[in-house]
Amino acid sequence: MSGPLVVFERVARTYRNGPVAVEALRACDLVVEAGEHVAVTGPSGSGKSTFLHVIGCLDRPTSGTYRFDGRDVTSLSDRELAAVRNRAIGFVFQRFHLLRDETAQRNVELPLLYGGVPRAERRRRAAAALEAVGLAARREHTPGRLSGGEQQRVAIARALVKEPRLLLADEPTGNLDSASGAAVLALLDDLHRAGMTIVLITHDPEVARHGRRHLSIRNGELTAATGS
Ligand SMILES: Nc1ncnc2c1ncn2[C@@H]1O[C@H](COP(=O)(O)OP(=O)(O)OP(=O)(O)O)[C@@H](O)[C@H]1O
Ligand SMILES: [Mg+2]
Repeated sequence: MSGPLVVFERVARTYRNGPVAVEALRACDLVVEAGEHVAVTGPSGSGKSTFLHVIGCLDRPTSGTYRFDGRDVTSLSDRELAAVRNRAIGFVFQRFHLLRDETAQRNVELPLLYGGVPRAERRRRAAAALEAVGLAARREHTPGRLSGGEQQRVAIARALVKEPRLLLADEPTGNLDSASGAAVLALLDDLHRAGMTIVLITHDPEVARHGRRHLSIRNGELTAATGS
């Protein structure tokens, strides 16, 4: 599909708890072209996670429209939204969310298992994804026998193995020391150079510097960050 990968038109997300409504996203407009590396920063409570959930098709806007890869995903059913997400969007979170009792190889194979990919192809693609993040020699290690930075690289391999159109990273270095964090950010930079579209969400300006375009979210409003 040609055209931008992500188009938000006045996207809003309001949480309602009884009589109380919180406007966590307000009339957000956004276009992300394929191949961009965008960093989004904002303080606690500004709407970053809400934004991640909507852009990642984990949640829907309460008003406005969202077109992902040319398709209006605003009114899809839960099942259809999950299908888009599973096929086309890779996630990397602050906490790695790896299965503790499974090897790196098995952790990376898992999304392909859910996707119905045959065993031999699963093995081959997971091995290639681990090699791409520099962990070919750690395939048989369980997460407890990997460093934090290595665990995050396994999580990145797991996100990449589906060959997603969009990679979303939410505080990907938040649980890492500065050296491991730098290695993870360098890996994201490499993926961007290889053509991956990345949206990086962080409260940390040093991390955000890795984005090639900078957005800021304040009180649910998304704007171009000043000075970028
Ligand atoms: N399920 C919910 N129900 C009601 N209000 C919510 C819900 N989730 C988030 N909010 C509110 O929406 C606003 C934005 O929350 P969000 O989690 O998106 O912020 P954030 O920028 O990710 O913050 P942090 O940096 O602390 O993770 C906050 O005021 C929050 O209290
Ligand atoms: Mg958050």
